[in-house]
Amino acid sequence: MELDLPTFKLKQRKSRANSEPVLSSILRYEKYRRLTLNLIPSENVLSQDVLRALSSEMAGRYAGRPEPYGGSSMFHEIWEECESLACQTFHSRAASASPISGHIAAMMVLDSVAKKGEKILALSSEDGGYKGYTTGYIPDLFGLDFLRLPLRKDGSFRIDLDEAISIARREKPSVVVLGATVFLFPHPVRELAEEVHKSGGCLVYDGSHVLGLIAGGEFQDPLSEGADVLLGSTHKTFFGPQGGIILSNDVELMKVLEQRFLYRFMDNFHLNRVAALCVALKEVKLHGRKYAHAVVRNSRKLGKNLGELGHPVAAKEHGITESHQVLLNFGHGRGEEVRNRLEACGIIVDSRVRLGTNEVSRRGMKERDMEKIASLIDDSLSNRRPPSKIRKDSFSLMTRHKKVCFTLR
Ligand SMILES: Cc1ncc(COP(=O)(O)O)c(C=O)c1O
Repeated sequence: MELDLPTFKLKQRKSRANSEPVLSSILRYEKYRRLTLNLIPSENVLSQDVLRALSSEMAGRYAGRPEPYGGSSMFHEIWEECESLACQTFHSRAASASPISGHIAAMMVLDSVAKKGEKILALSSEDGGYKGYTTGYIPDLFGLDFLRLPLRKDGSFRIDLDEAISIARREKPSVVVLGATVFLFPHPVRELAEEVHKSGGCLVYDGSHVLGLIAGGEFQDPLSEGADVLLGSTHKTFFGPQGGIILSNDVELMKVLEQRFLYRFMDNFHLNRVAALCVALKEVKLHGRKYAHAVVRNSRKLGKNLGELGHPVAAKEHGITESHQVLLNFGHGRGEEVRNRLEACGIIVDSRVRLGTNEVSRRGMKERDMEKIASLIDDSLSNRRPPSKIRKDSFSLMTRHKKVCFTLR
């Protein structure tokens, strides 16, 4: 499907952006993404304070532990504050803000908890798991055998606990990874941790998608439930800079992990990102509960409305969602067409058609706005109105919610 997108003209200001094509493309992109309604569950909008930290002097600097670089002592104060705030937020004894992405965090953890020839039990990508944990990806780099963690066959996207325990008992994997890319309901951390611990294994919880909900007390609390490690991206429901984080109560394991990362996974870990994460953690400390509550309330409302309008909402008989995501189950291969159709109407989604309410909630939208979003999606998917008319309404909804909420000021 050909995308019918609006063209944007920038205001003629006396700025270098008018003569510099890259800068004007950046401004155009910004304008487009601010006006369109973003429902991609792995993205979020950043506060001015977080953006300020990202564009700070630190963006061009190096630091380390122990410190080989001069000029870094002030950065170390920020780094320590960041990791200490992370420990408070996620109820852990140790934290590492080093990983530059959720994927790198996963690599760092697997590298430290499993050895060549051992087994990893995780969800397959067809079941909504993160592809990185499956055959051909991270396990192959470390010589691990991937075993498929089973889902119940009732469309609930919940793990089949009895079957999972029996696989863990039989195969004795050194690591079980919970958490997912399609993540609608909490996972059975306590039960699987108990089982994997019997054979000396480790329970890793990948909270990339739900980190902001965990921080706000709206999802499960993996470390208190028995996970050995919580890792994740810091930019999906958690509204920080793009990056990763690792948390654990096992201080010795965290020391090993920190010692092993340098030159194996990265050298520079991007100081500006750590500073921006510190700012975001402060925002979460102040507003995390309210934000997370709004996200989940909004996703439940959006899912309910779309279901009532006859759209293929997954897990409808199982409560639809307890997270930020609503999954629309279109038949094989239709995702891209749906994505394009919605984009022509000013609504941005991914080809899996997972709808996330994290960004719109951060823009202050409430349940009544979810009704409006559901009706815009319905108009678009049922071809009820021309895309240009729907797009006008999407832009107008966004214009009324320009402000980024849950900030320090
Ligand atoms: C469950 C899960 N883990 C890890 C990642 C990788 O995160 P990042 O993009 O921060 O590397 C993703 C990406 O979407 C994910 O869904």
